[in-house]
Amino acid sequence: MSGAETPAETPAENPAENPAEKPAGNRWLVETGGTRGPAYAEHFRKLAASGADLDGEARFVASLLRSPARVLEAGCGTGRVAVSLAQLGHTLTGVDLDASMLTEARRDALRVGADVRWLQADLIELPQVLPCEQFDLVVAAGNVLVYLTPGTEAAVVAAMAGALAPGGLLVSGFVLDRHVSSADYDRWCEQAGLLAAQRFSTWDRAPADAGGEPDTYAVRVHRR
Ligand SMILES: C[S@@+](CC[C@H](N)C(=O)[O-])C[C@H]1O[C@@H](n2cnc3c(N)ncnc32)[C@H](O)[C@@H]1O
Repeated sequence: MSGAETPAETPAENPAENPAEKPAGNRWLVETGGTRGPAYAEHFRKLAASGADLDGEARFVASLLRSPARVLEAGCGTGRVAVSLAQLGHTLTGVDLDASMLTEARRDALRVGADVRWLQADLIELPQVLPCEQFDLVVAAGNVLVYLTPGTEAAVVAAMAGALAPGGLLVSGFVLDRHVSSADYDRWCEQAGLLAAQRFSTWDRAPADAGGEPDTYAVRVHRR
């Protein structure tokens, strides 16, 4: 998507705002029951049919890459970004823990003839799931950061950083009205040994913290 991208097909409730209802497990699975795939895919099909620009993340990522690059989409969901990047000639791996989302991803990739390797796993397990692989870029788009299991965020950022080749880029985009601030995220990246490279408030490269209203969305690029 092109603006301050929050995929609108996200659970409306935010139990994390109420400590009494704080989810014990992975926030995405707790909030969706692991069955969101078909509705999520249908939502984006409708947006595409209405002419909405859904390629902001893929365009942003592609602009950072020389083709062909090795790209990992972390929390790929229905594969929106991975499929677009594969169609541009990059070598794609998509990892997600929600089988219902991956079913849609596989279907969509097959439909357009995109070659993507899909893996069902928790991102915190990346070192075990992809022990010997290095990627030129890891992208976590569409609010993945705010749906992780509470308390695992720093470890997941470290796992994503560990999957990067030297000089590789970690790209994330997430809403700022939940429980993850851009300062939190930058700190986790620093702890993982990454260097801050670029910061925006939209995938269209609107500047971050430009003054006026506080940012509602963060797009961050860090380098290993
Ligand atoms: C809002 S969806 C975004 C999907 C996709 N990135 C997009 O932009 O359309 C969030 C995704 O993060 C995935 N996710 C959340 N925590 C995860 C974890 N610990 N490991 C793997 N995937 C995770 C969920 O399963 C879900 O598919």
